[in-house]
Amino acid sequence: MKSYWAEPQIKAEGIFSGEKDIVVVGGGIAGLITAFKLAESGKKVTVIEADRVLGGVTANTTAHIDCMESFIYADMAKKCFEKAKDFFFFQQEAIQEYEKLIKQYNIDCDFVKVDSYFYTSTEKDKLIDEFNTLKDIGAEVEFDENPHLPVDVAAAAFKLKNQAIFDPVKFLNALPKNFEIIENTRITDIDFKRKILYTKEDKISADKIIIATNFPIINFPGWYFLRMYKSHSYAVALDKAQDIKGTYLNADESGLTFRNHKEDVIVGGYDHRSGRPYKCRSFNRLCEIGKRVADGHCTHRWSANDCITFDDLPYVGYYSKCSKDVFVITGFGKLGMAKAMASAMLISDLINDVPNKYKKICNPHRRGQCTWGFFKNLLCTIKNLLIMPFVPPFRCARSLKSGEGKIVFYKGVKSAVYKDEEGKLHALSPYCAHLGCQLKFNPDAKTWDCPCHGSRFDIDGNIITAPTVKNQERR
Ligand code: FES
Repeated sequence: MKSYWAEPQIKAEGIFSGEKDIVVVGGGIAGLITAFKLAESGKKVTVIEADRVLGGVTANTTAHIDCMESFIYADMAKKCFEKAKDFFFFQQEAIQEYEKLIKQYNIDCDFVKVDSYFYTSTEKDKLIDEFNTLKDIGAEVEFDENPHLPVDVAAAAFKLKNQAIFDPVKFLNALPKNFEIIENTRITDIDFKRKILYTKEDKISADKIIIATNFPIINFPGWYFLRMYKSHSYAVALDKAQDIKGTYLNADESGLTFRNHKEDVIVGGYDHRSGRPYKCRSFNRLCEIGKRVADGHCTHRWSANDCITFDDLPYVGYYSKCSKDVFVITGFGKLGMAKAMASAMLISDLINDVPNKYKKICNPHRRGQCTWGFFKNLLCTIKNLLIMPFVPPFRCARSLKSGEGKIVFYKGVKSAVYKDEEGKLHALSPYCAHLGCQLKFNPDAKTWDCPCHGSRFDIDGNIITAPTVKNQERR
């Protein structure tokens, strides 16, 4: 599946050797903007990317720059009003920063300010609660009792003004590259005390390290694999679309999103925990829905993994309590564009010793993370790590149909096997290279996904997304 967005046109000419001042691990939107911000403040920065820059989640987003996502603010405000307010403005100020940079550097990236509609077909009371909270916070919201939305039958909706859409790759292509970039270099380990970054064959040292790899690649310290999970989301684009005049986000289970991009409409949704049983053909369903607002065909389809924390706030700050020179950026939830910019601004302030009022709410070591979600996540890990490996497969590889991937017996051992359209078998170890959970095949994306922390592999075992730093063993 090819990205919908512009081709990356960023030259990587850095060399992996010697001593660096600041190293950012991860060449997605959060890593690149953080590098830009730090370099703008006079620092010498190097970005190290395992593959090509902008090849991961950034290239597979729907690119809403939006402060909404799901029902968040009302629940958060019940526990702490100031926290909900700070979280909203953490993101809203990031939208203003995008606008400022785009003007300052005259960047053509199809940036458009829009109203964002948050709507529901089933949970009107909850939506009213969310609306009232946002109003109290000071957000520019308007309630609509009888919404005439172009996209769905809704019971209620409200609109949040001054949100935006853009092409993230065009934006990053044009953002000044005042820092060094090294590509095709996978960091496999980091010595936090000595501040050394290792690849399989080599190592370098740095004064400060920022880990912006979507899901953090270092398990200890930090323990992020216990504090987050990954959600898999899908998107399609259809041509000859109506102007739907804004962006739309369904608060209900489907989580559908809609936006225009020039003459196209992009429809996203049907996200689910990575590695969960995949029952539906998500792309086909999204294309059907898209036809309500487009006369053309489904021209693109893509999918991505999002990191979800249990209190809806990202982790931006010190990687662990005892390492003041290693930082983390992760946990953006489903719509991460505003959070990427806001996190870059926060990390830049932390490193430059500039006060930032959002430091506390994004602190990766904040209290209150032992929620019901934490225990549910733990149960899921226990099941897939300690129980599933002992369940024998019910089928053997010969019984697979073309295009099917399953855990089966192959050459007498339990294996993860995919049969391609030509009938060739692609066999891998069924246990994830990260910590050993049993993988699950995703028939929509044709990938092997891990239900524990969301590592993804292609049918030949090559890494698509972290936290794993190793390819899946072939059989
Ligand atoms: Fe952690 Fe697979 S991603 S065990």
